[in-house]
Amino acid sequence: MKHYTSIDDITDLYKAVSEALVLKSNPRQFSDLGKGKRLVMLFFNPSLRTRLSTEVAAANLGMEVTVLNVTDSWSLEFDDGSTMNLNTSEHVKEAARVISLYADVIGVRAFPGLKDKQEDEEDKIIRSFMKHATVPVISLEGATAHPLQAFADAITLVENTKRSRSKVVLTWAPHPKALPQAVPSSFIRAVKRMEFDLRIAHPPGLELGHDLTDGIPVFNDQGKALEDADFVYVKNWSPSDPYGSVVKGFDDWIMTADKLGKAQFMHCLPVRRNVVVEDAVLDGTQSLVIDQSENRIYSAQYVLKEMLEKR
Ligand code: CP
Repeated sequence: MKHYTSIDDITDLYKAVSEALVLKSNPRQFSDLGKGKRLVMLFFNPSLRTRLSTEVAAANLGMEVTVLNVTDSWSLEFDDGSTMNLNTSEHVKEAARVISLYADVIGVRAFPGLKDKQEDEEDKIIRSFMKHATVPVISLEGATAHPLQAFADAITLVENTKRSRSKVVLTWAPHPKALPQAVPSSFIRAVKRMEFDLRIAHPPGLELGHDLTDGIPVFNDQGKALEDADFVYVKNWSPSDPYGSVVKGFDDWIMTADKLGKAQFMHCLPVRRNVVVEDAVLDGTQSLVIDQSENRIYSAQYVLKEMLEKR
């Protein structure tokens, strides 16, 4: 695996899930593999799970880890040919090559600005590191994808499936801030490649892109989508038009224990209680959110192991 910036960089998803579950059964069984190797993680945005789970994953493989909050560093320039007479102090062309001298793998977290759709779709920060770094790059969540989360979600689905062709519903939920489409997009990409019946539910105007959802039933009626669900994945995302706006007027799309029924509940976290989902769901026995967060370790550990073995 040269880079990991999309769930599609994993060619055989079920085989990868099996291998991740082997790692989970004995996390330190490959603790010599990463000896003398270093993971450098660059955070342009905050994190709890991604930072800590990826650090644990690297330590399980014997790697050393260095973390840089990029706001503590020089502000980087990403445009080719720019005259750097304003606020940026260092170009990514130098920065990525320098960090590659210190790192065997580079992880980058860089959210979208949610102001310019075309600019966000270019995922300029992660793509620039892929272009100029001389070591593998892992997306720790980019402008359009969160592949480590999606792989952890795939592991969680496999672990908790009780019958064949389980019904998985991805439903939009309200949120006071505009959020990216990275998590729902990567979740859809993962589940499309698995043996589940996927449905999507969202209010009108929150379509996720025809190429992504082609062939998947999409409902504007949340109740209808939730009928007979085995897994309910709840996530807010902001619309493509007007891009990055906050959608109001759908507070009743909050997930409740009543709506959840007998299904198992999933969310990538962090989650706003009693806005996105009510307490009774998160505190109930059908919630898988802590399992998903635990599986973030083995998602990252699988990817790092692949990179250490296949370089
Ligand atoms: N789910 C997730 O990526 O969590 P963090 O933003 O805390 O890393």
